[in-house]
Amino acid sequence: MTKLNFNSEVVELAELGNGVVQITMKDEANLNTLSTGIREGLSKCFGAVAQNKSYKVVILTGNGNYFCAGAGISYLRKRIRGEAGVIDLSGSMLDCEIPIISAMQGHSLGGGFLMGLYADFLVLSQESIYTINFMEYGFTPVGATSLILREKFGAALAQEMMYTGKRYRGQELAKRGIPFPVVPKQDVLNHAQRLAQEIAKKPRLSIVSLKELLTSEIRKKIPEVMEKELETHYVTFNQPEVASRIKKVFDETMMPNTQGTVEQGIQENKSNSQPLQLKISSYGILKNLYWAPLERRIPKPTEVEVQLKAVALNFREILNALGLFNEENLRRFGISKAEELTFGCEGAATVVAVGSEVSQWQVGDEVIFRGWDLFSSFITCSADKLLAQPSNLSMIESATIPVSFFTAYYGLHDLAKIQPGDRVLIHAASGGAGQAAVKLAQYFGAEVFATTSQKKMSFVREQGVKHIMNSRTTEFADEVMEITQGRGVDIIFNSVTHGDHIQKNIDILAQGGRYLEIGKLNIWSHEEVSQRRPDVKYFPFDFSEEIERDDKLNPRIWESLLPLFESGVLQPLP
Ligand SMILES: NC(=O)c1ccc[n+]([C@@H]2O[C@H](COP(=O)([O-])OP(=O)(O)OC[C@H]3O[C@@H](n4cnc5c(N)ncnc54)[C@H](OP(=O)(O)O)[C@@H]3O)[C@@H](O)[C@H]2O)c1
Repeated sequence: MTKLNFNSEVVELAELGNGVVQITMKDEANLNTLSTGIREGLSKCFGAVAQNKSYKVVILTGNGNYFCAGAGISYLRKRIRGEAGVIDLSGSMLDCEIPIISAMQGHSLGGGFLMGLYADFLVLSQESIYTINFMEYGFTPVGATSLILREKFGAALAQEMMYTGKRYRGQELAKRGIPFPVVPKQDVLNHAQRLAQEIAKKPRLSIVSLKELLTSEIRKKIPEVMEKELETHYVTFNQPEVASRIKKVFDETMMPNTQGTVEQGIQENKSNSQPLQLKISSYGILKNLYWAPLERRIPKPTEVEVQLKAVALNFREILNALGLFNEENLRRFGISKAEELTFGCEGAATVVAVGSEVSQWQVGDEVIFRGWDLFSSFITCSADKLLAQPSNLSMIESATIPVSFFTAYYGLHDLAKIQPGDRVLIHAASGGAGQAAVKLAQYFGAEVFATTSQKKMSFVREQGVKHIMNSRTTEFADEVMEITQGRGVDIIFNSVTHGDHIQKNIDILAQGGRYLEIGKLNIWSHEEVSQRRPDVKYFPFDFSEEIERDDKLNPRIWESLLPLFESGVLQPLP
């Protein structure tokens, strides 16, 4: 590969041999935002391509996680103040007489995506995000987007992308049938280079002539479409709502692309408000809870930083604050003093910074996840911990999912292997885990039996449960045996472990029944259970320990649950 020097620090032109040249945007720190430097660099490189009559194919690509992040906030601010016009990238690319292959190895946003679409061929990455997000800010597209996007992706998808401004992963676009290769991120450039070499085997005059034939029609239409789009764009851009939308989108997501580095972004936000974390000074009284200042941490290459938006309050927080989990906290986390304890097991957040090797998330993504310190303004953690938020749910709704539904799904589906028609007894059915277990058992076609306190029975009935019993006594055992005519239940999902509850549960399990124990205190050992009922399959488990053992468990369960939430089959906790 021969690199050519065109005095651009951020765009590089290299000859790959056989008439193939590659233009690489390499302003990785600024996400290849369409800065003056990038635009001048591109213009110089395409100028050089136009002059060299031995070149046959151009590959356009980027370095790092972004192909190109579009215009960026400083440009949009200038636009709002009337200090900048619309960026036109079309010239150098649309006038290029040899074919261009956009090797879009990373996220491609707004104008950055449009620039890629000007090419003759596209190669997309499965993991990266592609969006025509102009309408997210409330203004209509420019640059012949309406023509080019339709030409490349078809009318229906193009229209959806423009109206919604939504982000699409490459793999989703592949499923939607786009007519271009979508390959793993690391294969994008190789794929483009192989295609380029294949094309470059042909005579240059034939390549240039074919491009002229294939593109002359659309090129004729472009100036008129651009003019019409521009007229509409000026009207729509000048609505007051657009300025506030731009501010909101960038404030909420802290886009670092125009602020410089992620570190600078963090420093700027620091001055706005002090990040905090919930702590306790001594066990036993909830009054001892307080908000302590939190030091934010810049993500390592495989990490992300998220800003918490909604955190669920779990029973565990109460037990933690009362000091009832001290033994476990020492064993698992080495926590020996109250001040070392943090709170918050599940929540929803927005990604505010990503490490250099993170490709699956980008700044602004909305996610859910589990942890031990989610009552914090910001958290820096491994990118693998995050799961995509259901697109139809709010942050608050989504924050109720990671503990309750994952625990219930793992227990009922993975361990108990629940089947349609199984009789399932769910204790404390009005609690978080209980409600999720009820919804899932119903989804799997089981017959649900539930216990709860007297005052919450009507709530459980509203969830469609027929057999409801009192959770404060052990009379449920006789009632279950009566309703089932002595057969008992096939599965029990339990968290109530005091008194005779456990023994009664074991006794009313049908032959070969499955007993899921999610309670932590006073639970029975395997020996105790098998002495009383050798036929019963006993599954005491703590889901947080299961995911520590198997880091694929969370994403695997989410693969099954996410479509159920997004299609409305499952609803989050109220
Ligand atoms: N192993 C795991 O992976 C895992 C995961 C999640 C939760 N858990 C455990 O499961 C339990 C429930 O958690 P959660 O998040 O669902 O809690 P939650 O939402 O606070 O619900 C607690 C439930 O416990 C019931 N309850 C309270 N006192 C009771 C009593 N004396 N007798 C019977 N029921 C009583 C309440 O019933 P009423 O509403 O009828 O008053 C309520 O439904 C906790 O012990 C938690 O640590 C374990």
